[in-house]
Amino acid sequence: MLFPDPDDFLAEVEAIARLGGQQLMTHWRNLKPGEVNEKARNDFVSVADFASEKVIIDAVAERFPDHRVLSEEAGWSGRTRTGPTWIVDPLDGTTNFVHGIPQFAVSIGVAVDDRVEYGVIFDPCRNDVFTAARGRGANWNGSPCRVSEREGLEGALLATGFPFKAHRLLDPYLAIFRDVFLSCKAIRRPGAAALDLAYTACGLFDGFFEFQLSAWDVAAGSLLVEEAGGVISTMDGGTDILDTGNVVCGPEGVHRELLAAIETHGEAWRTALTLE
Ligand code: IPD
Ligand code: CA
Ligand code: CA
Repeated sequence: MLFPDPDDFLAEVEAIARLGGQQLMTHWRNLKPGEVNEKARNDFVSVADFASEKVIIDAVAERFPDHRVLSEEAGWSGRTRTGPTWIVDPLDGTTNFVHGIPQFAVSIGVAVDDRVEYGVIFDPCRNDVFTAARGRGANWNGSPCRVSEREGLEGALLATGFPFKAHRLLDPYLAIFRDVFLSCKAIRRPGAAALDLAYTACGLFDGFFEFQLSAWDVAAGSLLVEEAGGVISTMDGGTDILDTGNVVCGPEGVHRELLAAIETHGEAWRTALTLE
């Protein structure tokens, strides 16, 4: 059977995310020398990422042998080339994790035919869990959550991420940041995109924008935002968030004004994206 009952399946996804989170906590503030590596400049991976990823992949293989997994460190796994796809970030917020900053999560989205149908984000430090199933709403620790009622940038508390892996985007990003910053109340850079999306889904943040994320950063969170009544799109206003990773979201009015600010610098960031 590809899927059991949706509620049962979401509970299974949550249970598997919690297995990953347990592994993270065994290494939390306890990393030894040599347990962190730099994959690329300023981009880190630790034994905790691998430990969380392994339990998640093993659990999916055992419980859902006709599903496959796309995860950040291991890439594709599973015996099938089709079927539901678990899009997994086993540790979102690795830089925070290795510095002992309690802002990180396990993020799992499950997609069918390229559309995310289920999403779970688990923050093991706070024991916070954010869950969503398409058409069935979003929940924070079992209670329904909604995006904020903010109608625009005025008074908004936003989250963002810096283009630290794509420095070619820095100038256009800073130009956008400046305009948005001058129109809203404040902007945070917490360092775990999955939680930025989850907090936007719960109305803690009024909106979020970041360039060049990966599918595993946004799969679960994008569904959470939608199911919580928010709008999420690419920086072009399109829907292919998983492919482009250029993400903007919030309640409808905040999303609209963010998108307009981003479009003001559209030529600059589109040009930057074409550079190596
Ligand atoms: C990162 C975090 C960060 C975002 C980066 C991501 P990782 O994920 O989500 O907030 O700015 O773009 O790569 O590498 O810690 O899984
Ligand atoms: Ca990530
Ligand atoms: Ca990661």
